[in-house]
Amino acid sequence: MTADQYCVMGNPVDHSKSPWIHARFAQLTGHDLSYVKRFVPLGGFEQAVQQFRAEGGKGCNVTMPFKFEAAALAPRQSARARLAQACNTLRLDGSGIFGDNTDGIGLVSDIEHNAGVKLAGREVLLLGAGGAAAGVLGPLIEARPRRIAVANRTRAKAALLIERHCALAAEHGVQLEAPELPAVHAGFDVVINATATSVSGAAVPVAPSVLKRGTLACDLMYGPAARSFIDWASGHGAIARDGLGMLVEQAAEAFLLWRGVRPPSAQVLAELRATLG
Ligand code: ATR
Repeated sequence: MTADQYCVMGNPVDHSKSPWIHARFAQLTGHDLSYVKRFVPLGGFEQAVQQFRAEGGKGCNVTMPFKFEAAALAPRQSARARLAQACNTLRLDGSGIFGDNTDGIGLVSDIEHNAGVKLAGREVLLLGAGGAAAGVLGPLIEARPRRIAVANRTRAKAALLIERHCALAAEHGVQLEAPELPAVHAGFDVVINATATSVSGAAVPVAPSVLKRGTLACDLMYGPAARSFIDWASGHGAIARDGLGMLVEQAAEAFLLWRGVRPPSAQVLAELRATLG
């Protein structure tokens, strides 16, 4: 019998660490599977998924720019994927395509278990209101911080995003607001950068007074793309954290969805950091 097949689909996809991460998960849990990268041309996502399914593929991870198309392709979805309106994980089985979004739960796991900061009762600032921010807001609310401020350059987008999440926030007793960026300055316990500023090298779009001593400041990116935010945050006394832990934790949640077991993600994160130097 051949091993179950999984892949990550993206454009570009060369940089992806997911094959390495899932190969380690498989070794450590004793699962026999193959996990490869698949470069997908723009406009070719649906065909690529159907082809992979026809080949017997059991599931795939999806990176930008296909997370929205992945959601449109999945008739059945987790509640968190529906709220995010985007999927980073598809499970392919006899009953069709099931879509999930493990980015947010991956971020929350990284903050709570790897960085050791419990979110309950905390003050959280989420910078950005694009796809990356939408992917993490639902699980952040479910972690029950006292307040989440979603601040974005284009405030109307943040307002729309919090409107979509207000029922969930009420259910979990979380104060959800969308202040104008220049009006944000109180010290927060946790600051999350989900803007594209780190990638483009643009300035962090908020005053350093949002940080206080001991604030955990996380970028969703890792490597050189996270550098400017990390330097800004640590330069102003915060504890800076890149998105490598989120990457491993979102993968662990995908592995759980596919294989029914949660792999030892903290160990794999430590190994990956050591590998990357
Ligand atoms: P992603 O999928 O990475 O979230 P996106 O959906 O294009 O990409 O969203 C990019 C986010 O970064 C948005 O919140 C964007 O703000 P706008 O909604 O105002 O466009 C934010 N962003 C990008 N460049 C920025 C900059 N120079 N300053 C502030 N915010 C920026």
